[in-house]
Amino acid sequence: MLLHSALLALGATLAAAVQPLEVQGQYFVNPKTGNRFQIVGVAYQPGGSAGYDKKAGRDPLSDPDICLRDAALLQIMGVNTIRVYNVNPDVNHDKCASIFNAAGMYMVLDVNSPLVGDSLTSYNPWESYYAAYLNRTFAVVEAFKNYPNTLAFFSGNEVINDEKTGATVPPYMRAVTRDIKNYIKKHSTRPIPVGYSAADVRSILFDTYNYFQCSLKGDDGDMSKGDIFALNSYSWCGESDFKKASYDQLVSGFTGNSVPIFFSEFGCNEVSPRVFTEVGTIYGSQMDTVFSGGVVYEYTQEKNNYGLVDMRDDGSATLMKDFLSLKAQYAKLNFTEIQGKKAPSTAAPAPPVCDSKLITTDGFNSNFTIPVLPPNATEIIENGVSPKPVGKLVEIKDWKVKFTVKNPDGTVISNLAVKPLADDGVNAPGTNTDSGTQAGTGTSTSSSPSASASKDAAARPGAVVLPAVAMGALAVLAAL
Ligand SMILES: *[C@@H]1O[C@H](CO)[C@@H](O)[C@H](O)[C@H]1NC(C)=O
Ligand SMILES: *[C@@H]1O[C@H](CO)[C@@H](O)[C@H](O)[C@H]1NC(C)=O
Ligand SMILES: *[C@@H]1O[C@H](CO)[C@@H](O)[C@H](O)[C@H]1NC(C)=O
Ligand SMILES: *[C@@H]1O[C@H](CO)[C@@H](O)[C@H](O)[C@H]1NC(C)=O
Repeated sequence: MLLHSALLALGATLAAAVQPLEVQGQYFVNPKTGNRFQIVGVAYQPGGSAGYDKKAGRDPLSDPDICLRDAALLQIMGVNTIRVYNVNPDVNHDKCASIFNAAGMYMVLDVNSPLVGDSLTSYNPWESYYAAYLNRTFAVVEAFKNYPNTLAFFSGNEVINDEKTGATVPPYMRAVTRDIKNYIKKHSTRPIPVGYSAADVRSILFDTYNYFQCSLKGDDGDMSKGDIFALNSYSWCGESDFKKASYDQLVSGFTGNSVPIFFSEFGCNEVSPRVFTEVGTIYGSQMDTVFSGGVVYEYTQEKNNYGLVDMRDDGSATLMKDFLSLKAQYAKLNFTEIQGKKAPSTAAPAPPVCDSKLITTDGFNSNFTIPVLPPNATEIIENGVSPKPVGKLVEIKDWKVKFTVKNPDGTVISNLAVKPLADDGVNAPGTNTDSGTQAGTGTSTSSSPSASASKDAAARPGAVVLPAVAMGALAVLAAL
């Protein structure tokens, strides 16, 4: 590992690092072991969308004390990945990235933010596709490309959420994906996969997938193709099952995938507290050849009520019942087996060739002419972002959590700390067994809900947060 050894040569003492992962065909693979990697993740955005505050220089990975608290709790939970939606490329993430790295966790990062000019818009996407916006996405690449635990970038999240946006956005999303991939190719010492995180709107989900994954001839073809595909899916609610939650449709729709597919969000809260019985299925034999795991929505409790941990203004926190039930579900999995599967030696299925016949929904874009780079963006890709916000692993001296964290019953968890892992270590249940944490039960008394697969786009947690909610969350964070 280039960066790591270079720093060691300078005499810096660093915690061990996770092995950077690669995409090989339809799977994430650890190149050192040849094993497949299954994402066992949690969406991490303390403060909601407002946890990203450009003026205050704050984002979810800017406060090391908060990251240390959360890395310790997520380590106890047993996860190996966090998804972070809104990062500010110009703030320093070295400590937080180093903490999550040492805790054995990868990061999946969205290159966008909800602020105007920081993302491709759903309507009139051509108006938001310009050099300054691309510069922002490239700056996120610069800020995170050197961390060994950077797993992937999302070029967009739920920008397409109905037929109408499906008519306009697809070529632009492929263009942004192409541009970020070109930037990485030119400026990163290792390939980092780039792809789209889709809303699970079944009527257009597979059109979206096909549009982004198909193989296109010409210069733009390979570069504009997504390296990964992910979906935010809330169709498994309460005590459901593979069929009732319509996971069977997902598996049959994605079978033969040429790129890794995973849930970029899951964890329906229509039945509360949540029981997370989908965990066993997601990592089980019905899904694991097609899917590469998933990310639970979400770490902190916000107004939309999907939290695992209730965070207070003073940095103290209380675990919620959902934390314990999710932990119990992970504990039931056999991680040795799940993370120990060899990547297949045979080539992955080839992607379909881009063709308007792939698109089945009337009105969904079936034009595969990808927009050309906007004026001035060529120079940025050529010369790199200026100035470059370069990130690097740094030494962390103290692994003890500085805030009080309580169990759901109010008892205080004592001696809470991150347990730094050995080189190439990846977190799993049992790595950090804090004796003060309550055992989860994983059982439920709730009744089975109907498998309502389609939710209103506006109610989806991945959708852009309304200003009122954002302001509320901002006030909470401002008090920190
Ligand atoms: C490009 O991004 C860098 C890093 O965030 C920033 O300092 C610079 O001002 C940006 N340039 C343009 C033209 O937007
Ligand atoms: C977990 O899986 C490994 C590898 O397949 C196997 O050797 C081991 O016995 C399993 N452990 C349990 C508790 O089933
Ligand atoms: C496809 O899109 C390109 C670029 O926007 C446009 O020039 C072309 O006319 C479109 N083709 C069709 C068949 O609509
Ligand atoms: C784009 O390039 C033109 C011509 O080189 C220049 O005048 C303009 O300032 C540039 N715009 C940006 C945003 O860099």
